[in-house]
Amino acid sequence: MKVLLVGSGGREHAIAAALARSPQAPELICAPGNPGIAALAQCFEVSVDDVPGLVALAQEEGADFVVVGPEAPLVAGLVDALAGAGIAAFGPSADAARLEGSKAHAKEVMDAAGVPTGAWEKVSDVEAGMAAITGYPVVLKFDGLAAGKGVVIAQDEATARETLEAFLVERRFGEGEVVVEEFLEGEELSLLALCDGVRAVPMASAQDYKRIFDNDEGPNTGGMGSYSPVPGAGAEEVAGISALVHQPIVDELARRGTPFHGVLYAGLMMTPDGPRVLEYNARFGDPETQAVLPRLRSDLLDLLQRAAEPGGLEGAELEWDPSYAVTLVLASAGYPEDPRLGDQISGLDPAPEGVEVTYAGVKSENGVPVTSGGRVLNVTALGNSAGTARAAAYAGAEQIKFEGRQMRSDIALRAQERTE
Ligand code: AMP
Ligand code: GLY
Repeated sequence: MKVLLVGSGGREHAIAAALARSPQAPELICAPGNPGIAALAQCFEVSVDDVPGLVALAQEEGADFVVVGPEAPLVAGLVDALAGAGIAAFGPSADAARLEGSKAHAKEVMDAAGVPTGAWEKVSDVEAGMAAITGYPVVLKFDGLAAGKGVVIAQDEATARETLEAFLVERRFGEGEVVVEEFLEGEELSLLALCDGVRAVPMASAQDYKRIFDNDEGPNTGGMGSYSPVPGAGAEEVAGISALVHQPIVDELARRGTPFHGVLYAGLMMTPDGPRVLEYNARFGDPETQAVLPRLRSDLLDLLQRAAEPGGLEGAELEWDPSYAVTLVLASAGYPEDPRLGDQISGLDPAPEGVEVTYAGVKSENGVPVTSGGRVLNVTALGNSAGTARAAAYAGAEQIKFEGRQMRSDIALRAQERTE
């Protein structure tokens, strides 16, 4: 069994490690990969945006199955193109991936499916936007690709007007409409489900830390750490939430003739009135995956192959290590605004003991690892309590050094306090 993994981040390194643990002992290849993934898979210089190049690589290398990590190739139709070439792949079609590609489309599908989410309205001019606002704070979401900068929580009228003008008049992110959404309060929860077009099988709960600094201060990032499971979101609660937020979407998309295969990632706000969906992603979360997959005892490759088949997950039961997993993100100086690249990294060879280190923004320069992105490395540790997992993760991470390294010190702290 030869498997092509598409992507180059910490998420893909964690997926590669989980696939490598499969009893099927697959031969792994990866495009484009990174120096960490290269220890598990032969890497090929094909970009994640190059759909024809990836299909050609899968054909030339005789890949039996393709696992797609990031959203860009999904939205660009990689899974459809592979299907056209007779190659099975894990991930949604371009049509099904629109759930992530367009916020307004996701909202419309949620309403049709009866999924709980904040009240919303789609607007295309500033005055309609101002008229749609019923109170502050209010959430304004640009309905298009905005490199993670398209969501603004406006505390007052002046900020709301400024934001609407930036999105709809100045066209900061190009053409696109805006979703005006009710502000929701509570704790965020990430819940991923494997979907086979017919059913959704939830994975273990996780929490992501989006802000750069401790106590959730500073600008938003791609994610500074994660942990799994979340106290109060064990198997029973997860099954209940999944029945509200995953299965109705899978049913609705099947009804529309665009069945969802792959990972359906629900970003949730746990409000006093119950869970509300903030967003869907059509892929594994990063860095949630780095905390979730090390706990999975079932054969990931088997599950991903079954998800690619209509109804293939029937009877699937995921088995989890009861341990806590904590993942820390080591980010480069200047991240997220202006990450500095090229800083030498020490402490990777040998890797710290007792942790799983996954590579994200790392490249090799004359055999020396250097930073090559905003999020550089992830360090994950398991422990029989949130506290022991935290302590092990921080002990491991402290051994890895580069200039300007940024790391939050409060990842999973709330979970530790709650479970002590
Ligand atoms: P999204 O890309 O839609 O998940 O939004 C990015 C972040 O903005 C989320 O992770 C939340 O922290 C925040 N957010 C989004 N929608 C809302 C909402 N309706 N109420 C409060 N916070 C929100
Ligand atoms: N952890 C957030 C994301 O993967 O989008």
